[in-house]
Formats: sequence, C-alpha cells, structure tokens
Amino acid sequence: MTFGLFLITFIGAYLLGSIPTSVWYGIGYFGIDVRQHGSGNAGATNTFRILGKRAGTIVMLIDILKGWTATCLALLLYYFNVIGLEELLSYKIVFGLVAIVGHIYPIFVKFKGGKGVATLLGMVLAVHSELALVCITIFIFTLLTSQYVSLSSMLATLAFPVFSLLGMFGQPETLLVVFGFVMFVLVVLTHKKNIGRLLSGNESRVRIFGNKKE
Ligand code: G3P
Repeated sequence: MTFGLFLITFIGAYLLGSIPTSVWYGIGYFGIDVRQHGSGNAGATNTFRILGKRAGTIVMLIDILKGWTATCLALLLYYFNVIGLEELLSYKIVFGLVAIVGHIYPIFVKFKGGKGVATLLGMVLAVHSELALVCITIFIFTLLTSQYVSLSSMLATLAFPVFSLLGMFGQPETLLVVFGFVMFVLVVLTHKKNIGRLLSGNESRVRIFGNKKE
C-alpha cells in the first residue's frame, strides 16, 4: 500500500505536469496550434503572443495550478502516514520537479512541451510562498524594464536559490538552495534558443500595455 500510494502520486504528478494546456486550449478553443506560430513553444508566453492576453492568462494560471497541485500531492503521503513531517518538503520538491519534467516532456504530445516556468512557479508557491513573491517581483521588474519574458523568467528562477542562500526568510534551507540551482540550470537549458536570440538582439519583446505585440 505504502509504495503503491507513492507510485500513484508520483505518476499523478507527472500526468498533471504533462497536461499541454496551451496546445489543447489553443486547438480546442481557437483551432490554432501555438507550436506552429511565434516562438513555437507550447507555453503561456507564446499563447499570449499568438492568442492574446485572455488566452495567455488562462494558460498561465492553469500551468501554475498544475505545479501547485502536483507539489501538494505530497500532502496525501503525509496524511496517510506514508511519510513524516520532516520528509514533507523533500517529497513536495520531488513531486514538483516531476510535474515540471512532465510539462517539458509531456506524454500527451509526443514529449515536446514548454519551458517549465509557470509550472515551476506553482511549485515554488507551494513550498515557499514568500520566496515565490520575491521571484514574481523580480520577474515583473525585469519584464517592465527589458520587455523580455525569457530574461525575466531566468532571473526570477535564479532569484529563488540566491535569496534562499542569503537566508532572506530565516536559516537557508539546503534542500531549497540545491533544488533552486538545479531548476535554474534546467530553465537555462530550456531557454537555449532564447539566450541565442537575446545575445544576437533577435529576441521578441512584449508590449506590456496595449494590445499589439512584436
Ligand atoms: O516561460 C517561457 C518564456 O520564458 C519564453 O517563452 O515563447 O518567448 O520562447 P517564448
């Protein structure tokens, strides 16, 4: 039973992360596959770019919810006494990470998914909401000043382990610092093309106010 429940929640976290929100919503509601347009990425940013603010916001919120819910699956193991309180954070991180991997490599669309940022935010909200707010602030500040979503995503991801390490909210938690840096490396890898475009000056900017986008 113990291992069975772990397996069910583990697979559940992957399947939740695998839900290709932008692809299903784009095709189902607009008849448009966002992977054929814009950056070609199956994520919230490209949905904003191609299908507009409302669709982008819906996809972003669902992707955040996926990460949050998958992370919280660890609570089931705690309530059923499969794990103790001292193990809860590690299991939350494992399930969150599995959901992010699911988002990047989703079983439902031939393992070609998004870049994992919104799902990561959902996970960070579930493990450390104060730090999540710091990351969101850095994301918004970078976005307003640079208009690059990719740069904002990477800096916000980096903020998580850095501010954990600085002990901004009490003693630095080794697990969060290590996990944060692992996530940062993963997010940099998923943004390889964006980094190339940023360096060559070809990355698209978003217009924050107004409807038009470049
Ligand atoms: O979270 C994804 C974002 O950082 C970049 O997306 O579509 O511009 O490659 P995109």
